[in-house]
Amino acid sequence: MYLNVWKYILTFLTLFGFVVLLRSVTIWENWTYHIVSALYDVQKRIQSSNLTRCLPTFHHNHTFCPHVGQPPSLVEKLEECNLLNSIAWPQPPSGSASLKVSQTSDPAHSLFTIVPSKKDQQWYVGDQLEVLVHLHDFKGRPKRYGGDLLLARLHSPKYGAGVAGQVLDHKNGLYSVRFPLLWEGSAQVEVMMVHSSEAIAVLRRLREKRPDRVFFVSLFRRGRHSETKVCHMCLPQGKRPLCNYTDLNSGEPWYCYKPRKLSCTTRINHAKGGYRKNITTNKENLLFQSGVNVKVPIQASAADTITVLPSRKESGSQKRDPVMLATSGYYYQDSWRPLGGVTMRQFDDASAITQCLTNKLLYMYGDSTVRQWYEYLVSVLPGMKEFNQKSAEKVGPFMAVDSTHNIQLKYRCHGPPIRFSTVMTSELRYIANELDGLSGGPNTVVALSVWSHFSTFPVEVYIRRLRHIRKAVLRLLDRAPGTVVVVRTANPQALERQASLYNSDWFSLQLDVVLRAMFKGLDVLLVDAWQMCVAHHEPHNIHPPRAIVKNMVDMILSQVCLNGTRKTV
Ligand SMILES: *[C@@H]1O[C@H](CO)[C@@H](O)[C@H](O)[C@H]1NC(C)=O
Ligand SMILES: *[C@@H]1O[C@H](CO)[C@@H](O)[C@H](O)[C@H]1NC(C)=O
Ligand SMILES: *[C@@H]1O[C@H](CO)[C@@H](O)[C@H](O)[C@H]1NC(C)=O
Ligand SMILES: *[C@@H]1O[C@H](CO)[C@@H](O)[C@H](O)[C@H]1NC(C)=O
Ligand SMILES: *[C@@H]1O[C@H](CO)[C@@H](O)[C@H](O)[C@H]1NC(C)=O
Repeated sequence: MYLNVWKYILTFLTLFGFVVLLRSVTIWENWTYHIVSALYDVQKRIQSSNLTRCLPTFHHNHTFCPHVGQPPSLVEKLEECNLLNSIAWPQPPSGSASLKVSQTSDPAHSLFTIVPSKKDQQWYVGDQLEVLVHLHDFKGRPKRYGGDLLLARLHSPKYGAGVAGQVLDHKNGLYSVRFPLLWEGSAQVEVMMVHSSEAIAVLRRLREKRPDRVFFVSLFRRGRHSETKVCHMCLPQGKRPLCNYTDLNSGEPWYCYKPRKLSCTTRINHAKGGYRKNITTNKENLLFQSGVNVKVPIQASAADTITVLPSRKESGSQKRDPVMLATSGYYYQDSWRPLGGVTMRQFDDASAITQCLTNKLLYMYGDSTVRQWYEYLVSVLPGMKEFNQKSAEKVGPFMAVDSTHNIQLKYRCHGPPIRFSTVMTSELRYIANELDGLSGGPNTVVALSVWSHFSTFPVEVYIRRLRHIRKAVLRLLDRAPGTVVVVRTANPQALERQASLYNSDWFSLQLDVVLRAMFKGLDVLLVDAWQMCVAHHEPHNIHPPRAIVKNMVDMILSQVCLNGTRKTV
């Protein structure tokens, strides 16, 4: 009898608890979708509920470099662990360091094949094209493991069309590349090997063990006495006296060796010191030969071109498969067409741009790839007047004003480890701190580009920097809703001679994946420089050509001037 009553009470309590749980789950979901900063809190709470779950899937054996500075919180550590896992890259099997160069991947002996579509070799707009790539070594023997870096595009010069392919590593020497078919007519496949897996093993070692391969210097001066000292984020501590320039607000670490006769407060500038040479063995150098095994096309075993027929499906009924979802856009008639609901307009004459930017303030922060946007706008707008008497060429800060239309453009480089020629200490700022100083609002556009100067550091250093910037972006969007925030991704570049050791696309790609993940779900416009450059016919260049810059700026202007159609990343 008593037992039965308890049974009912227990059942009731369980049901009640379940309903409360369900309700809070729906409310949680609602928050996740509707409120930007709440999203961040919710993510935090969900993550802290299983903090012990992320274990690194590959072994980290780093220098002390990432651990300089304030230790991350538990939540930050978890995010970092998940991000590092998401960029885990297959390593060549143990013992491969003793391989002969002839046993490493050779693009000239490798081949790709178009996989026939099931229905009689016909492709339609809305379908996918799959290509299988077989890697071989210099003796023509098939490779048995993955980890090579490939880039691919599908293009039609006739239509000014191009799209980047999504590469899948089968980890056995085979790779699949998938392209969405987005236009009618002929389309040609291009695949290139950027690096062999063996070369990437070398790059990985350099990234973790030799963050000093680009070094920095500062000039210290008082009166007629001056000294130049080496500076870095990761100087060995406790050996020689250091000056500590750690940013008090964000906690970003930075150090210089202390001058012998001058105090730490006499530092007057910051500059790139140079590139350390002789960081690889002679044998390793053979893995980085332009035209041999760096950025070399892979040939097709048979046809490399297909004909795409008009769509069979009703327009709008095409399902968003993973390849489409991973594709941010494509070129058609040389214009970038973003996918996923971002509306794009062409701004072909100065008056359209001026009209769009009237009463607007544009702040551009970061490396030289966002400075290109500033330069493009200044060159294209006749009413812009520059006020840069005191600014060093290519370094800034820069400002241009069109007082008739009340337009202001500003550019400022990001803080250390910026690799510019010479930045005065008084102009050396961290982006997060600059963002905290903005009023923001619907007439303010903030564009950020931070990637290239981090490629010589372990990824944790980049994650920490983006974390600080992301917090500042969220604070800005909270206090000034309507501020347009644009984040530019990394892009591939020319890899001549030794450039790979400092600036390889592999470093950039890894940073790029981290950047996308860290800004995902926030109310910011992502300009996908990576795909815009991979899909384009111009050769890769760290500073993409004007045609690509125009498309990037058009995308931002479209966002700024088409109210109500904003989409999050
Ligand atoms: C979810 O949000 C919408 C508006 O954003 C609101 O109308 C609705 O009541 C919310 N639902 C819950 C369960 O909180
Ligand atoms: C937390 O646990 C849930 C349920 O086991 C899992 O689905 C989720 O991926 C975990 N989150 C993280 C960040 O590990
Ligand atoms: C970590 O690196 C050090 C020095 O490079 C090496 O001696 C040690 O064996 C490495 N540890 C592991 C677990 O790989
Ligand atoms: C440098 O300064 C920061 C901030 O004041 C401090 O947290 C850090 O411990 C200092 N580093 C060293 C090596 O003293
Ligand atoms: C390069 O480094 C190796 C050891 O890693 C050393 O034996 C050699 O002398 C160095 N060469 C130059 C030119 O510095």
